[in-house]
Amino acid sequence: MERTFVMVKPDGVQRGLVGEIIGRFERKGLQIVALKMMRITPELAARHYAEHREKPFFKGLVEYITSGPVVAMILEGKDCVGVVREMMGATDPRKAAPGTIRGSFGMDIGRNVIHGSDSRESAAREIALFFTESEICEYSLNLASWIY
Ligand code: TYD
Ligand code: MG
Repeated sequence: MERTFVMVKPDGVQRGLVGEIIGRFERKGLQIVALKMMRITPELAARHYAEHREKPFFKGLVEYITSGPVVAMILEGKDCVGVVREMMGATDPRKAAPGTIRGSFGMDIGRNVIHGSDSRESAAREIALFFTESEICEYSLNLASWIY
């Protein structure tokens, strides 16, 4: 089963979108296997966004992502890396398809509400960066036994 790393960014927390965003993933059928609120340090931000170190938006990106608490999680499900990217929408919220998370809730590429890993390799790297093994919960989701 595939896993991906997802984070509600500081603007999503400030705007009260945490429940809405997690709810979308839960209702879609993705399983939450780790979840925490945390403050990202500049060091962690630089490692997480290492691929963008030379970009003109890097400094502002680090300032933004460290500006307030985030909600970090690991989601599990079939093809969940791609499924989450589809549900998030394009990087620039003004260009993101209506109905996607960014398309529904954003107006600025520098305040785009959510992060999700862009590949299985990125997911493995980011999960290791943000979570320890003991923070990840392995459990089976058997909806029939919980609802009936
Ligand atoms: P990127 O990895 O390209 O996008 P995504 O989050 O969709 O994987 O960029 C990382 C973040 O950097 C992006 O979420 C928002 C920010 N960013 C800017 O502020 N300006 C830009 O021009 C780009 C490309 C990204
Ligand atoms: Mg990216």
